[in-house]
Amino acid sequence: MARLNEKVALITGGASGIGLSVAQLMAKEGAKVVIADFNVEGAKEAAEEIRTQGGDAVGVFVDAGNGDSIKEAVDFTVQQYGKITTMFNNVGLTNLKKDLDVVNVDLEEWDKLMNVNLKSVLLGARFAIPHMMEAGGGSIINTASMAGFAGDAVRVAYGASKAGVVNLTRYIATQYGKHSIRCNAVAPGLILTPAAKNNMPQDVLDMFAKYNALPYHGEPEDIGHTVVFLASDESKFITGQTIQVEGGHYIANPTVPDFEQFMKMAQV
Ligand SMILES: NC(=O)c1ccc[n+]([C@@H]2O[C@H](COP(=O)([O-])OP(=O)(O)OC[C@H]3O[C@@H](n4cnc5c(N)ncnc54)[C@H](O)[C@@H]3O)[C@@H](O)[C@H]2O)c1
Repeated sequence: MARLNEKVALITGGASGIGLSVAQLMAKEGAKVVIADFNVEGAKEAAEEIRTQGGDAVGVFVDAGNGDSIKEAVDFTVQQYGKITTMFNNVGLTNLKKDLDVVNVDLEEWDKLMNVNLKSVLLGARFAIPHMMEAGGGSIINTASMAGFAGDAVRVAYGASKAGVVNLTRYIATQYGKHSIRCNAVAPGLILTPAAKNNMPQDVLDMFAKYNALPYHGEPEDIGHTVVFLASDESKFITGQTIQVEGGHYIANPTVPDFEQFMKMAQV
């Protein structure tokens, strides 16, 4: 039996990258999938592709920065498939030009990222939870980021919003656990989505590779398989957790690669 038979999932930001991979993998495991995205054409194409491979999916519009739109996507899911068991709050924005350090961050950008990256998670949960209670339970999964676990030179709004996602995940898990509603998050490190591949200079990719414990970069499927696990009943005793899928980027003393380099030089 497929791992997600009987599951109905709403995936925000499902037209590309991590969300698309999750949609494809969930459909392969038997879930009925609503792919919701700003890019509605992309969402519909992704759903069509899943249907041609024998899966069950539809594409719809959602603006994760707008509460009414998130509610419409949740209600659509319930109308289409009779219930919602799985909510993947995945949309997240970053802006390297405006989201700078504390003194220089553009405050409109701060508000935008808090709205799209953090409030959208609150609202996705808020609108899905009553339906999940009716259905006897569910699994909410949020996309955080490794940026929510450490300080950085720039992207203060992104990092703060993703740290918020990590603790909001615990709050949802705490408040609705007795209704058999689980809530977990996944925190990706650098993932080679098509957008990342096209936009990241090789020097930046090399920088990440240097500080990862593993010798390769993350792929969308690495997040996809983790999310499928969190959506499935295999993880039925896991709640309130954020799984870091980041190639061991933060597990070691940060000086390790530099110290190894130093030791090599010292031996010469
Ligand atoms: N790719 C990475 O390296 C990485 C690392 C850490 C965290 N993340 C997080 O993973 C999530 C997905 O990122 P990705 O890299 O797959 O992105 P992506 O750019 O490949 O895809 C994002 C999708 O979201 C849609 N979208 C954007 N704004 C939207 C809105 N307001 N409403 C609805 N849809 C909207 C886009 O149309 C696109 O289809 C984000 O939360 C991001 O912060 C990504």
